[in-house]
Amino acid sequence: MQVKKVYFQPHGDERGQLIALEEYKDIPFQIRRVYYIYDTAEGVTRGYHAHKSLQQILICIHGSCKIRLDNGKEKEIVLLDKPNEGLYVSNAMWREMFDFSPDAVLMVLASELYDESDYIRNYNDFLEYVRNCEETTDGE
Ligand code: TYD
Repeated sequence: MQVKKVYFQPHGDERGQLIALEEYKDIPFQIRRVYYIYDTAEGVTRGYHAHKSLQQILICIHGSCKIRLDNGKEKEIVLLDKPNEGLYVSNAMWREMFDFSPDAVLMVLASELYDESDYIRNYNDFLEYVRNCEETTDGE
């Protein structure tokens, strides 16, 4: 599986660092929603879902965490531990977030507003969704 990490250029000077993220420039989609996860209890795994349409960029802006990506065929674990590094997560990608350090702040930039109907929360439904997508694409 091709893991797509994006690197953001910090504007550093003697005062410290600053990173600016602009849609369609640093982020490959229109940013319609931002949320962040923090104060995560020890041993917690979150996520356990995929999206039909939503694209996201995940940035661990403080601390560290790991992301398990699963496209229905292959799985990858990605460490996020730098505020200038993002992970692109496409639609139709099962994700689990785990191994949060106590100080971790995981910020997510999303291409759509929150919409429960875009979620696939059952893993077998996800596998079937991926299979159906492939059949549709193969028939083109
Ligand atoms: P949840 O989907 O459980 O988060 P995770 O993907 O990390 O497992 O979301 C937790 C709660 O927050 C749930 O009640 C839905 C709500 N929520 C929103 O209201 N808006 C959002 O953009 C998101 C991502 C979640």
